[in-house]
Amino acid sequence: MKDDDIIPGFKFVRMIYLGAEAELIHGIWASKDVVVKRRISKGYRMKELDLRIIWSRTLKETSLMHDAKKIGVLTPTVYHLNPKMGIIVMSFENFPTLRNTMLEGKEVDLKALGRTIGTLHAAGLVHGDLTPSNILLSPGGPILLDFGLGERTKEEEMFAEDLYLLKRSLDELLDGHAETAFRKILEGYSVGFVAKHEKIKAKIEEISKRGRYIRRGVHHV
Ligand SMILES: Nc1ncnc2c1ncn2[C@@H]1O[C@H](COP(=O)(O)OP(=O)(O)O)[C@@H](O)[C@H]1O
Ligand SMILES: [Mg+2]
Repeated sequence: MKDDDIIPGFKFVRMIYLGAEAELIHGIWASKDVVVKRRISKGYRMKELDLRIIWSRTLKETSLMHDAKKIGVLTPTVYHLNPKMGIIVMSFENFPTLRNTMLEGKEVDLKALGRTIGTLHAAGLVHGDLTPSNILLSPGGPILLDFGLGERTKEEEMFAEDLYLLKRSLDELLDGHAETAFRKILEGYSVGFVAKHEKIKAKIEEISKRGRYIRRGVHHV
C-alpha cells in the first residue's frame, strides 16, 4: 500500500508492530507524529464477514476511546477514521508499554493503573483486552490502547473478567509472581470504582476458582 492510500499526505516512518489482526505504522501526517492502525483481512474468513468484523471493531475502538477520554481516562487521540478500510489514524504516544517496563524490572505505579481501570468501569466501559501490551505508561498516567473488543455494560461479571484477564497476563509475564502487583492494582481500583469494587473482587475470586477447576480438569484428561 502506498503512503497516500492510507491517507493523503501520510509519510511512512517505521513499522511499529505487525500482528495477526492489525499492522501499526508510525508516520508523519499534517506535521504530526501519528500511528496508523490498519486491520488486516483474515484469509480464512468469508470476505463479507471479514469486512463486517473489521468495520465494527474499528468503529467500536474509536468510539470507546472517545468515551474513555470524556471521563478522563487517557487514550490516543483519533485524527482520522476509515472503517471500511479498517484504518485509524491517531496520535503517536511515544511511551513504553507496561509489558516492556515490567520485563525491564522497572518500578510501575500500579495503583494509578488500578484507579484508571476503576474509573473506566465505573462509567460502564469494559476494555475487553487488558493485557500489558495494551497499556502505555506516560508521566501523566497510564494510556489505554486497543479497545476493539470493548463493551458498554453495567454487568459486574464483565468488569471482573476484564481484571481477571489482566491478572492472568501479569502472571504469565511475571512467571506466576503477580500476586503483589495485582493487589496494588486492586487497591487503586477500589478508589476508581468505590460503589462496586467489593462485589467485583468477589467475582474475580469466583472466576479464579472456576478457572483453576477447569485447568485441573484439563490436566486430568
Ligand atoms: N497510538 C499509539 N502510540 C504508540 N504506540 C502505539 C499506539 N497504538 C499502538 N501502539 C503500539 O502498537 C502495539 C499494537 O497496537 P494494538 O492497538 O494493541 O494492536 P493489536 O490489536 O494488534 O494488539 C501496542 O502494543 C503498542 O506498543
Ligand atoms: Mg494490542
